[in-house]
Amino acid sequence: MHNSSCDQQGLTVWLTGLSGSGKTAIAKLVAQELCDRQLKVERLDGDIVRQSLTRDLGFSKSDRDLNIERVTFVAKLLTRNGVAVICSFISPYRERRAKSRAEIGESGDFIEVYVECPLDVCAERGVKGLYAKAFRGEIADFTGVSDPYEPPEAPAVVCHTAEETVEESAAKVIAYLECSGYIPART
Ligand code: ADX
Repeated sequence: MHNSSCDQQGLTVWLTGLSGSGKTAIAKLVAQELCDRQLKVERLDGDIVRQSLTRDLGFSKSDRDLNIERVTFVAKLLTRNGVAVICSFISPYRERRAKSRAEIGESGDFIEVYVECPLDVCAERGVKGLYAKAFRGEIADFTGVSDPYEPPEAPAVVCHTAEETVEESAAKVIAYLECSGYIPART
């Protein structure tokens, strides 16, 4: 389907999962692998985007939906221009993800990846100390603790990061992209 760097067709790989599930680490490896294959790649990540494009937003349902709405707009433009976009956002709401799929799908392929990890494992990882604060009630609306997370019903790929290494999870995503013809298989 997408055969060379000059006629690259855009796609968006959308990683969804709890905070600390490993979305960013997988996204970085997938992006690196695609770069190594001479594809044009951009990464959009919650922690980064929330310092710029969506720094005015918090974590209410409407703010999260607006966060995803804005990044979807950017992902759509990039996808339309032949970029492989790797998005990593909690994106907890199924309906909002479905809208992103529909919007980005007008410009290219949309591949949903569920980065699955039990809450207690995410919390034990202790990334940024946020779970400890959330359990103490110091952060309101914390996903998985005091705010919902709606897992995908039919993700293209599921990465079980409590059982897989980051490399294994990223390899699963790459293998799916290859097998489905989204990227050329490595020769
Ligand atoms: S989303 O829900 O709108 O998709 P996003 O992925 O952009 O979230 O941002 C999540 C990041 O924000 C987390 O990795 C964490 O570092 C930080 N964060 C701060 N407050 C919260 C909260 N209440 N719930 C979840 N993540 C939070």
